[in-house]
Amino acid sequence: MDIKTAEKRVQELHNLLNQYSYEYYVLDQPSVPDSEYDRLLQELAQLEEAFPELQSPDSPTQRVGGEALDTFQKVRHDVPMLSLANAFNEEDLRDFDRRIRQALDEDSYSYVCELKIDGLAVSLKYEDGLFVQGSTRGDGTVGEDITANLKTIRSIPLRMKEPYTTEVRGEAYMPKQSFIALNAVRDEKGEEPFANPRNAAAGSLRQLDPRIAASRNLDIFLYAVADAENLGVKTHSESLDLLDRLGFKTNKERKVCRSIDEVIEYIGSWMDKRPKLPYEIDGIVVKVDSFEQQKELGATAKSPRWAIAFKFPAEEVVTKLVDITLSVGRTGVVTPTAILQPVRVAGTTVQRATLHNEDLIKEKDIKLGDYVVIKKAGDIIPEVVNVVTERRTGEEVDFSMPDNCPECDSELVRLEGEVALRCMNPKCPAQIREGLIHFVSRNAMNIDGLGEKVITQLYRTGLVQDVSDLYSLTKEQLVALERMGDKSADNLLQAIEASKLNSLEKLLFGLGIRHVGAKAAKTLAQHFETMDTLASADMEQLTAIHEIGDKMADAIVAYFELPEVSELIRKLKDAGVNMTYKGPKLAAAEASDSFFAGKTVVLTGKLHELTRNEAKERIEALGGKVSGSVSKNTDLVIAGEEAGSKLDKAVQLNVEVWDEKQLLDELN
Ligand code: IVH
Repeated sequence: MDIKTAEKRVQELHNLLNQYSYEYYVLDQPSVPDSEYDRLLQELAQLEEAFPELQSPDSPTQRVGGEALDTFQKVRHDVPMLSLANAFNEEDLRDFDRRIRQALDEDSYSYVCELKIDGLAVSLKYEDGLFVQGSTRGDGTVGEDITANLKTIRSIPLRMKEPYTTEVRGEAYMPKQSFIALNAVRDEKGEEPFANPRNAAAGSLRQLDPRIAASRNLDIFLYAVADAENLGVKTHSESLDLLDRLGFKTNKERKVCRSIDEVIEYIGSWMDKRPKLPYEIDGIVVKVDSFEQQKELGATAKSPRWAIAFKFPAEEVVTKLVDITLSVGRTGVVTPTAILQPVRVAGTTVQRATLHNEDLIKEKDIKLGDYVVIKKAGDIIPEVVNVVTERRTGEEVDFSMPDNCPECDSELVRLEGEVALRCMNPKCPAQIREGLIHFVSRNAMNIDGLGEKVITQLYRTGLVQDVSDLYSLTKEQLVALERMGDKSADNLLQAIEASKLNSLEKLLFGLGIRHVGAKAAKTLAQHFETMDTLASADMEQLTAIHEIGDKMADAIVAYFELPEVSELIRKLKDAGVNMTYKGPKLAAAEASDSFFAGKTVVLTGKLHELTRNEAKERIEALGGKVSGSVSKNTDLVIAGEEAGSKLDKAVQLNVEVWDEKQLLDELN
């Protein structure tokens, strides 16, 4: 066969195979028997072998390709992958609807309801129609490149039906049947079964060898196109139809609802139908349909305001509480944990449940030996709901917290206004160990490969006494640890090295300053830009920032006054750890002397230069508060085009009203 003829046949085979694959995996309507598909695929493979130049990256032969990887590359998401706020009952849903109505200034909007697939979020990049990169969500900003594994999912087209350059997102999952079959095989081989389909899917996509993922029968539903508007659609529901047209698999149970009542009815209908689905869902996602309205509503740092995830109520079971153990956290708080007779709840076997604090134990009247009702809060964390007092025999024993730290024996203290008991010894080994674990965690320095076990060993052997010691670890020291291979040691050293480049907020959060969470760390990093400027900031400078209250400011000042902290920061600097903020800069204006500082502002009507959300963020950055409704406490109303009832109310209450131009003048 000459190359011309071969090329033509290869093209024909691509078309046929892609069509059959699409019918089988996306539409679930095969038109030819499997044997026909296999025969054509083999023909294609043979042609590609004879004419290697005809093999292309989107060839149907390239689903399971290449060698196993050493490690996954990190991928920065161009558009962050946010998560969703949760609703647990009808009231939460109605609150959500109320917030939407207030913020939108108009009553006409509709929702799209979709099944919330219980898998893991992934993002797929296409260039001129070709699938080029797939990644996990990671921390929302940086995920991992799992392209090779995603290619093994047959319902992901290697080339979409039109040559767009875009990013699509969805949920990869393992169907219930595949999960059951996989666990049966694992049982037989004496391997640990997966707890639930979500873990199985995640575990499969985190395999370095794509042949493993290929054997796991994973699937995917796509639910978003990153820049749908540029592709000519105006609503979320249209973008799902667009995904269908482009050859992607979307979930067909979606429904456009005109009111929150309709949404609630839709959710109700799924309570019964849920077990019959061939895949697991953990709730229903509700999204405002119009993109324009989505933009107006905007997003918080974590999640969009235009969507919410309704979570199905948790399953409850009864089991026996056999013991209560104590653990000491990073800040010295001593937490009691219930040790339970193992029991299956919502897909996993539960043996422990947090009891939070002594007050809760008293309040729920929990005794050792009691039968207790267990559920998983947010479907993840097991907790004790209540005691089944009817099953008491009289043998149950009261529990009380000890007077001394279970780890270092120093006296426990209950600080004023707190329910928790604390170990106040800063040298308490448990606190130091937990502090190290926090330092390397994802939202902090994000050092992969430093699990609890490795940290405990590093601390016990004296190799790591404080976080700065991590940066002088050597390969020899690492490979001497239990269960640490050559490759893992290399990867770990690489991850430690990479963490030196993190932007300041990750380090700040990692240091574990009291009251400074991830969000506050970001705010501080944005304002002060370097560690030294922050370390020398006084109360006044700190509290001038809108989001920083007295309590946090106090804790920050006290922290940086400690001599051991200066020493630690010096050591980190010497190790080459970055001490500057690398993210987008704050507006130069100081919030405190801005016109908006302390003022309550209401935005209404259509703005042209800014989106409603941008305006809100700018005003808030300058110390203003943006509220959804006009009252006598409102200082200023910004009225855009076609402003309605809020403007009327402002006039009625004699509140100052500006147009968009005045707003822009003040902002600039
Ligand atoms: S939309 C910005 N739609 O649920 C909105 N999410 O916290 C992005 N999920 O991380 C999410 N099914 O992994 C959306 N139909 C669906 C979904 C869905 C499952 C997952 C997704 C996300 C999490 C929400």
